[in-house]
Amino acid sequence: MSAVHLITHPLVLHKLTLMREKNTSTMKFRNLMREVSMLLAYEVTRSMPMTLVDIATPLTTMQAPVLAKKKMAVVSILRAGSGILDGILQLLPSARVGHIGLYRDEGSGGVVEYYFKMPDDIASRDVLVVDPMLATGHSAVAAVSRLKEVGPKSIKFVCILAAPQGVEYLRQHHPDVDIYAVTIDDHLDEQGYIVPGMGDAGDRLFGTK
Ligand code: URA
Repeated sequence: MSAVHLITHPLVLHKLTLMREKNTSTMKFRNLMREVSMLLAYEVTRSMPMTLVDIATPLTTMQAPVLAKKKMAVVSILRAGSGILDGILQLLPSARVGHIGLYRDEGSGGVVEYYFKMPDDIASRDVLVVDPMLATGHSAVAAVSRLKEVGPKSIKFVCILAAPQGVEYLRQHHPDVDIYAVTIDDHLDEQGYIVPGMGDAGDRLFGTK
């Protein structure tokens, strides 16, 4: 079964509290999401492989650690995933980016894909799938299933808030995909919102209703 990593650094928890506050402005919410995402990226990449290279400092030569060549891609689930993407790319500027657009069909209740664009060499990349909210888990499962069709080397799922149901659903369907979140909240309400949550992440990020 996959691991669930909770990022409980004080800075992250503080910024999440500000994001939850309903009176936090769009501009502040967006900046906070970028900052939290940078801190998430820091944790997600903790086990990245390193190698040694020969360098010269002003005083001597030495073998110094650098990141081993690792090709990464960040795949954003539209539209709220864009808010996490910015922050992660600040720490991983050479990562490629993919997008998946999904919506929930009111009639069938199923998830419908309307957009799918990946880097050509996705099969040779380690992928972070990003969406700030892991609520029912239906979009996350659909996104990961679709992504597996193009066969990336590995997949991790990165969110800010999760509901217990979403975590369970994703782990059941994709037991090979580790989950990174700040917190698992209490429950989902009847409309599928995470409670206590922070509301509709897309609306708060883009100032829409
Ligand atoms: N998506 C959101 O943006 N917010 C929730 O609470 C659940 C899903």
